[in-house]
Amino acid sequence: MDNALHATAREHLREACRAGGIAVLTGAGMSAESGIPTFRDAVLSIPSPPAAAVPRGESAVLGRPGDGGGLWSRFDPAQLASEEGFRADPQRVWDWYAERRDGVRAAQPNAGHRALGAFAARHPGVLAVITQNVDDLHQRAGNTDAIRLHGDILEDRWLQACRPGCGRAPASAVPGRPPRCADCGNLVRPGVVWFGEMLPSHAIDAAERAARSCLVMLVVGTSGAVWPAAGLAGLARRSGAWVAIVNPHESEIDAEAHAVLRGTAAQLLPRLLDDL
Ligand code: APR
Repeated sequence: MDNALHATAREHLREACRAGGIAVLTGAGMSAESGIPTFRDAVLSIPSPPAAAVPRGESAVLGRPGDGGGLWSRFDPAQLASEEGFRADPQRVWDWYAERRDGVRAAQPNAGHRALGAFAARHPGVLAVITQNVDDLHQRAGNTDAIRLHGDILEDRWLQACRPGCGRAPASAVPGRPPRCADCGNLVRPGVVWFGEMLPSHAIDAAERAARSCLVMLVVGTSGAVWPAAGLAGLARRSGAWVAIVNPHESEIDAEAHAVLRGTAAQLLPRLLDDL
């Protein structure tokens, strides 16, 4: 990484530590060095799912999946990360998430996660972590208040509201692939935001507040391909924040940044934060 750029970034972070706030927006690249695959690395052409996508800027609907590599180069997001896909083949989708859940449980926070956790412990109230990731590595590293834009892969949720009077918790479902309600047959699904679904309003509201009020935003390990998350960098910049991207490769939102730091999350975050 360019030393002058590094020194500039540290200066902005030091100032933000003293007099304001720091927001960190993370994506799948944040967990890549923990062994969790990203979605779009190693570009291959794959089909985009049907009409779930929406033009940029329309709020709170998870947008344009599937034009890249990573998981989406090997699996079709329309079939595996949408309600339609789940209804079409619940067992296949359940099995795919079960495999990803095992991967998350087996993974450990990397040096990047740990640097953010330790920073938050040293500077209570200064750091807001906003993540697109559905793993729990930020939380395990100490950022238990991380804002989860796309849900939690380890959480179970009912596919739809149970029949009136049913009121069972997903944990009580009859085991299966997927588990189902003994009374009304309702299916259990993973607690993630699928393509075409709304983001949790409390999460996007909190993320936008953090983007508007921070003095520095670090954008770590995201391609910037999915909205509204990708719009947070521009919102922070328009609100006066200094924005820096941490990514070994080009992203779709590099133009929003004052500085692009080419490197990985586990390499650069400790260097940027450790002795602040
Ligand atoms: N450190 C930092 N960045 C990395 C690393 C690393 N070790 N490895 C890869 N990257 C970068 C890649 O260069 C890429 O820009 O991380 C980015 C990963 O991009 P995506 O796979 O598109 O993941 P993300 O941006 O999180 O995707 C957004 O899309 O599929 C949906 O819901 C899913 O939350 C996800 C959303």
